Amino acid sequence: MSKGKRAGDAPIGVDVIEGKSYYWCTCGTSSKQPFCDGSHKGTEFVPLPYKADQSKKVFFCTCKLTKDPPLCDGSHNVK
Ligand code: FES
Repeated sequence: MSKGKRAGDAPIGVDVIEGKSYYWCTCGTSSKQPFCDGSHKGTEFVPLPYKADQSKKVFFCTCKLTKDPPLCDGSHNVK
């Protein structure tokens, strides 16, 4: 699968809730970053599920270059 379109230059911090599932946008075209809004329809992309193992703030990747999806690994800083 190819990389999604860059949707931002920094991660988005979200207070996730233990046991809840989130669907990270992999295509980069969602207007509800970092989450899927269905805009990927008709493409090769599908959202990546993330289930929170505890309630905490996590930083979701928006540049779509992370090697640890859906979380930010600092790849947005690599030029
Ligand atoms: Fe991007 Fe669904 S809108 S994966």
